[in-house]
Amino acid sequence: MPTIVFANSEGGVGKTTSALTIAQVLTRAGSTVSLLDADPNQPIKAWAARDPERLPASLDIVPDLGETSILDAIDEAAARSAFVLVDLEGSANLAMSYAIGRADLVIVPMRGSQLDADQTARVISLIRREEQAYRRVIPHAVLFTATSPVIRSRDLAHLQDAMAQNGVPVLPVELTERAAFRAMMQFGGTIYDLSRAEAHNPEAAIENAEAVAAAIIDTIKKNKETEDGRAA
Ligand SMILES: Nc1ncnc2c1ncn2[C@@H]1O[C@H](COP(=O)(O)OP(=O)(O)O)[C@@H](O)[C@H]1O
Ligand SMILES: [Mg+2]
Repeated sequence: MPTIVFANSEGGVGKTTSALTIAQVLTRAGSTVSLLDADPNQPIKAWAARDPERLPASLDIVPDLGETSILDAIDEAAARSAFVLVDLEGSANLAMSYAIGRADLVIVPMRGSQLDADQTARVISLIRREEQAYRRVIPHAVLFTATSPVIRSRDLAHLQDAMAQNGVPVLPVELTERAAFRAMMQFGGTIYDLSRAEAHNPEAAIENAEAVAAAIIDTIKKNKETEDGRAA
């Protein structure tokens, strides 16, 4: 049911990697997942074609979506799957606006750089305008991606402070920089079935991906409780 949209008008910030990784964690945990590919470059479709044998059976990939088809695709997927995940192009377009309008949670992935922070600020203001337009709260959170698993950079700490000051929610867990996340995109298959030859230490990537997925589920749950409280 919940629709989780991965959006940032900047490319290369980890939208596809995080959407794909979270989809893998959720299907592994027994959920049905629809993963919607609304990027004209079709990175999810390409990933699925790389190794069809290793695709999880409960993962339903819906490719070739754009502004004219995204809303129907989200509604149809929400009726059949436990989770709907939407991967978008790295540009501010109508497909992105529509998907955000339908989201139960918008995840805004970004790397820890000032350049990404500027684009992220634009996406956050778009979300706030859509809240105004549709007269509804659109839960959202920034997900820092490709961060160092061992050191906390000063840039990152500074950006996290700035987000907090501006009231921008940030997920408490980051998607860390891991070779396994790159290998999964390169070879196809999931982080759970990477061989040792394909990636060093896939266990650490799996543990991190599961922690990020848990934080996302927890955020959806908390937002739902707040929403129910507001409606009561
Ligand atoms: N956590 C990560 N660890 C390692 N590589 C990553 C990570 N996140 C993204 N990448 C790499 O960075 C590049 C851009 O990521 P991608 O998910 O395609 O971004 P976007 O979808 O926002 O354009 C890809 O080559 C991807 O493999
Ligand atoms: Mg992408």
